[in-house]
Amino acid sequence: MAERVCIVSGGNSGIGFELCRGMAAAGFHVVMISRGAERGQPALDKLQAEFGDSIEMMLCDMSDITNITKLHTEFTAKFDRLDVLLNNAGAMWGHRGTTTQGHEMTFGVNHVGYFVMTQTFLPLLESTDGSRIINTASEAHKMARLKLGDLNREKSRYSQWRTYGNSKLCNILFTRELARKLDGTGTITHCFHPGVVKTRFGSGSSGIMRLFWPLGRPFMVNSKKGASTGLHLALSEDAATTTGEYWSRSKRNRGNRHARNDDNATRLWQLTEDMINE
Ligand SMILES: NC(=O)c1ccc[n+]([C@@H]2O[C@H](COP(=O)([O-])OP(=O)(O)OC[C@H]3O[C@@H](n4cnc5c(N)ncnc54)[C@H](OP(=O)(O)O)[C@@H]3O)[C@@H](O)[C@H]2O)c1
Repeated sequence: MAERVCIVSGGNSGIGFELCRGMAAAGFHVVMISRGAERGQPALDKLQAEFGDSIEMMLCDMSDITNITKLHTEFTAKFDRLDVLLNNAGAMWGHRGTTTQGHEMTFGVNHVGYFVMTQTFLPLLESTDGSRIINTASEAHKMARLKLGDLNREKSRYSQWRTYGNSKLCNILFTRELARKLDGTGTITHCFHPGVVKTRFGSGSSGIMRLFWPLGRPFMVNSKKGASTGLHLALSEDAATTTGEYWSRSKRNRGNRHARNDDNATRLWQLTEDMINE
């Protein structure tokens, strides 16, 4: 059998770094996606010290979605299969920013980034038997007040937690709708909450969050634990029996009622598609 290949976005840090480790330990060839070489190379060096050439790095800053097409060209020049796509790159931004395409940064990277990565690699995923798409979401979806008419948050005051929560609710709704669209293809998808994890998360936040988040670090789980549900979804037989679900602690979780709103999942998909085709 040809070597199984996976992609981990945001693979140079925190949960993504441990997803890379776990996938390499399971025998995959891992393509670690980093937004830049400066932070990517030290992580790659560490991973290669442990796993040798079965890990490599490709660069892609998701705040400009045209980079994803370049990444796809680089990837398909080397690989003719993709077994697992782990969409994980994400953050919380303390102040309003915009992506190259003009989307609000949190929505743009955390949701549009996952969406375009998945759309771009979908033909390859669908042509690979038993492929999986796993999205890092969050319990922070419970803080969301998602307004589908204002996805870029132009009509309301910027709030870092609310905007982040909205983007993580988008991850769950995206996973539900994706599962529906993938029905019958053999490709499955899930998303997960990793726990409250001691990573660089929060380093770009502002105000009280910037002050108090570091104080909580002693009570947070480590990145290895944070990656464990994602690895369960990427690797286990258990996860392969269903699709489109939200998980926490390697178990299926219902999320809140907004996370189960299929009408909104369909509308979000359409609105996102319209936005990226503008
Ligand atoms: N930590 C938690 O408690 C927690 C809880 C629930 C969900 N999550 C989710 O877990 C995922 C990973 O976060 P983490 O906690 O591991 O934090 P992290 O250590 O800060 O890792 C985030 C990763 O995303 C990358 N990234 C950020 N913006 C990017 C961009 N524009 N283009 C490409 N890559 C970008 C980062 O790259 P750089 O290294 O270059 O910044 C880094 O590799 C995120 O989706 C986050 O929302 C985290």
